[in-house]
Amino acid sequence: MTLPNSRRRVRTQQAPVHWREPCANGECSLHQLSPYIGKIKSSIAGELVKSYSRKGDLILDPFAGAGTIPLEAVIQGRRAFASDISPYACILSQAKLSPPPSLDAALEAAELALVEARDMPKPDLRSVPQWVRRFFHPDTLREALQFAGIGRRPGNEFLMANFLGILHHQRPGFLSYPSSHLVPYLRDKKYPRENFPEMYLFRELRPRLLAKIQRSYKRFTLPFASNVTVRQSAVQRLKFPIRFDALITSPPYMNALDYGRDNRLRLWFVDPSLAEPVDNDVTRRRKAFTDAITSLARKVESGLKEGGYCVFIVGEEFKRSFDAHPSDVVVSTLHEYAPSIHLRKVVTDEIPDVRRTRRECCGVKTELFLIFQKQ
Ligand SMILES: C[S@@+](CC[C@H](N)C(=O)[O-])C[C@H]1O[C@@H](n2cnc3c(N)ncnc32)[C@H](O)[C@@H]1O
Repeated sequence: MTLPNSRRRVRTQQAPVHWREPCANGECSLHQLSPYIGKIKSSIAGELVKSYSRKGDLILDPFAGAGTIPLEAVIQGRRAFASDISPYACILSQAKLSPPPSLDAALEAAELALVEARDMPKPDLRSVPQWVRRFFHPDTLREALQFAGIGRRPGNEFLMANFLGILHHQRPGFLSYPSSHLVPYLRDKKYPRENFPEMYLFRELRPRLLAKIQRSYKRFTLPFASNVTVRQSAVQRLKFPIRFDALITSPPYMNALDYGRDNRLRLWFVDPSLAEPVDNDVTRRRKAFTDAITSLARKVESGLKEGGYCVFIVGEEFKRSFDAHPSDVVVSTLHEYAPSIHLRKVVTDEIPDVRRTRRECCGVKTELFLIFQKQ
């Protein structure tokens, strides 16, 4: 990364070693509602929230993805504003930030929804695309479609998120034929139908959904927040709150991850009519990435309170085809469009192979944490 001339005196440091430690067994179980590519580790998100904001602060995450940063914000007594272009991401954020107040309440809501879903007209599977049908036993798919019809209603995000979290995997607690959990691929070569017939039977939704909801409440430390906002919007069109205390966000990894393709099955259940599951322009084209960061920089310049922090987590890209690294784009764009925001610190974290979504083909091996502060 090259720093603009006026910003050369910036502290740079390696990420602390404890950022490498696994956190899945200790984190709030809501973080595990449903998988999401490019998700930040909750322990790192929690540390950023703690270091760069105070109790009661309003924290913005305009590329919220699975809602990891907003959830950590709320756990630590901050207010959260989450936004993302993807409807799947917004369901996850909404579910995590405003879950039912108790396990009993969540189970009761699920039972009511399951009864209502059962009374819905039986779907005609001929209207379902072949690529979706390949993942499910026909009776499982019918139940899933009926339930998704209820889950899509506003206010049912928690049920929908739990349902999407059990949509595909190879384990018995999931609905699909054997497939991977993060990005939907059938594992029918590894588990051929002739040798594993039990993996291709009808999988009833009710016991799986209720068990999933119980898992979601396993480590539940969330104080119920009233001050949370979730919006589905491209950052370029997003209306920010007039004043906010911090912005902590990770923009899409330039040309590395495809949030539409990699979440395609869950997105289809969220809205089967979406022609293009998610607009990936910002991910694919450098100009769109720059435009998105420019619009963000302008909003940060006008809305971030004095002394407030702005933290960008940027996946560094090493492909020769780019004439600038994403971190350079972020630093120079903020320099130009947010002159009162100064780069204070850069933390570098090597991403171990186990945390990379596509190990062999994508160039993102390093994450940079760019810490800016308003003068
Ligand atoms: C690196 S991910 C964020 C991951 C998140 N921090 C988490 O822990 O799950 C980047 C996100 O940017 C979203 N995105 C891509 N283009 C966008 C745009 N133009 N406006 C808003 N969000 C966008 C993607 O849908 C994706 O969820």
